[in-house]
Amino acid sequence: MPDWSAALIVPDSDFNGAPLLRREFELEPDHGDVTSATLHATAHGVFEAFLNGQPVSDDVLSPGWSAYEWRLRYRSYDVTALLSSTSVLGLALGNGWFRGRLGWNGGRNYYGSELGAFAQLEISFADGHVQRVVTDDAWTAGPSAVLGNDLYDGQTVDARRASDAWLQPGFLGQGWTGVHTGELDSQTLTPYIGPPVRRQAELAPVRTWTSPAGRTLVDFGQNLVGWVRVRVSGPAGTEVTLRHAEVLEHDELGVRPLRSALATDRFILSGADDVFEPTFTFHGFRYAEVEGWPGELAGGALTAVVVSSELERIGEFSCSHELLNQLHSNAVWGTVGNFLDVPTDCPQRDERLGWTGDIAAFTPSAAFLFDVEAFLRDWLADLAAEQQAADGMVAFVIPDVLKYVTKDDPEASSFPEPDSTAVWSDAAVWVPWALWQAYGDRSVLVDQFDSMAAHVARVETLTSPTGLWDTGFQFGDWLDPTAPPENPILAKADNGVVATACLVRSATIVAEAAALLGRDEDRARFEELAARTRAAFGEHYVTDDGRIASDAVTVYALAVAFGLLEGERLRLAGERLAELVEEGGFHIQTGFAGTPFVTDALTVTGHLDVAYRLLLQEECPSWLYPVTMGATTIWERWDSMLPDGTINPGQMTSFNHYALGAVVDWLHRTVGGLAPLEPGYAKVLVAPQPGGGMTWAKTALATRRGRVAVSWSTEGADGFSLEVELPEGVEALLRLPDGSEREVGSGTHRLSAEPTRA
Ligand code: BGC
Repeated sequence: MPDWSAALIVPDSDFNGAPLLRREFELEPDHGDVTSATLHATAHGVFEAFLNGQPVSDDVLSPGWSAYEWRLRYRSYDVTALLSSTSVLGLALGNGWFRGRLGWNGGRNYYGSELGAFAQLEISFADGHVQRVVTDDAWTAGPSAVLGNDLYDGQTVDARRASDAWLQPGFLGQGWTGVHTGELDSQTLTPYIGPPVRRQAELAPVRTWTSPAGRTLVDFGQNLVGWVRVRVSGPAGTEVTLRHAEVLEHDELGVRPLRSALATDRFILSGADDVFEPTFTFHGFRYAEVEGWPGELAGGALTAVVVSSELERIGEFSCSHELLNQLHSNAVWGTVGNFLDVPTDCPQRDERLGWTGDIAAFTPSAAFLFDVEAFLRDWLADLAAEQQAADGMVAFVIPDVLKYVTKDDPEASSFPEPDSTAVWSDAAVWVPWALWQAYGDRSVLVDQFDSMAAHVARVETLTSPTGLWDTGFQFGDWLDPTAPPENPILAKADNGVVATACLVRSATIVAEAAALLGRDEDRARFEELAARTRAAFGEHYVTDDGRIASDAVTVYALAVAFGLLEGERLRLAGERLAELVEEGGFHIQTGFAGTPFVTDALTVTGHLDVAYRLLLQEECPSWLYPVTMGATTIWERWDSMLPDGTINPGQMTSFNHYALGAVVDWLHRTVGGLAPLEPGYAKVLVAPQPGGGMTWAKTALATRRGRVAVSWSTEGADGFSLEVELPEGVEALLRLPDGSEREVGSGTHRLSAEPTRA
């Protein structure tokens, strides 16, 4: 951590919420050559940094969104190559999450009303001298070409005002002002744990056409998150507007799901050849409506730029079923789009919040597709900071901006006084545990243990005298497909059953984590709580003939998957689960709580065939129905788009929500057959369970120990054949569909056996 001498500086004028800040300086003489130069920078708002006219990095939207009250992250850049004897350090600011709009009630400024910058450039010389150039009152501030910027609403840029002169020495700065210092507690400054946000890919339009209402529409062929880069020339002062949306409805742009987010960029032309890129906003979109374009909209004029946290893709899956491959691709795109610094519910409407339940459901899937360890550990540090200030309660969203939204406007929240809620608050336990399983680095448990334990300890205080967690507000099996569109909380599964099952799971995990960390007292305490809660569940919720209260698919799925039942009760629960799924015509009947676990629960109770029929259902509601409707991301609702092509009338209808895509974890482990037998794949379980008429699947993962690949086929002459590749030092237990097992070491292994098909 640097020894800070910088101050937070605030421009004397706001300059449309997009001020520029500059400082010119000379290298101090007589110290020999510069050996290194590092710029540390952060902001209240978002920043882009420049040295001598060059951006110091490809990062965008830094310092992202963290629990600013406790953790304001800074970025550090090696800028040695950009220095010269006279240099200009420049910072461009935007509103970002700090001062922009957050939440659905139109509020903003939750973290402060002034934008500010904090930077410290440290230049080391050959003789050991260090020169520091820091943000202080010697800086000046001025206007940029950006006339307005907001993450939800979009950005307005006037190219007539664009100039790089401010980044050059000798700039006169007409119309510029001074700066004053603002409040910043340097104790909150912390380096990033996770990766920066960067541009990831570019997509050209696949189609441009005129809608029935006469509007110009563009389709980028993929629902994505980022912005459109525009190349345009036309008369000075011409205004080109781009409005973004995920879907079309009645052949026009379907903007209702965005609610109050305007998702509109405006570009004012300079008269020369202009290139616009609105880097202080982002949109979730596949389509754009273009207005005011001068002349013909030529190919190459618009490029969709995909923006996300920089994550390494590590996991692959493909199989003989094309719709499943598209479902998998949809989950991949959902991860890219919703891992933009914070793991969000959705990236497009007036929300984009770090909803804890969504990532609690999706972490095992995300952790296979991408290396999300550092990303989620950064977020977990925010979770722990927020939780500590809230007496152990894990809020609905992290960073918890809702605590301000609801304070400002109690009407804005339809929720009662927030307290721990099952699945959502369980993120404190389930997310670090999933990271430990996926990557095998126990330091995540060391760092998070107090937070994990504090969550479960708080929930224990919320249980009723019966020992059940049947009190307080719950989201429960949120978005059960039979819940009415306007009331997604009305699930068939009983909230107490769901919550009590989650408490057993979380207490069991915390006990296991305590055992791993040698915390014997904690282990004993949480084992006892898990046992006591499991017994209460059995006593109050399970009848002698094996029925579980509310008799819904989700309650059986959770009871089985979370280890709440044994022996005959387990068998009966598996049977009832399979029966209910069949009675439901193999349509999905679960919401956020049950969906990640229903296929596993069917599989372990011997109903693999039912799991496949559920997986491969194409009618609504099902995993594949959206795919048949052309989805390129996972939808929030099973029927975000209704079969007749109209958008679901519910207020909450996103087309890019990863939570219900958590089934891809089952695809990797059960269809593909690749799972960790020990955390971090120190030992691998290779146990594909073919079914559903599928004839091949291929799964591969770049583990911390090297690449593991599994592929199987029933197409060859040998019946079922399996090929497994293991890196040096990694062993696997192979379990063939006929149940036979063998242990193998590193290298390539080919086997065949008679298939037992589901
Ligand atoms: C979000 C969800 C979230 C839920 C909780 C919604 O508005 O989009 O994904 O978990 O609220 O109620």
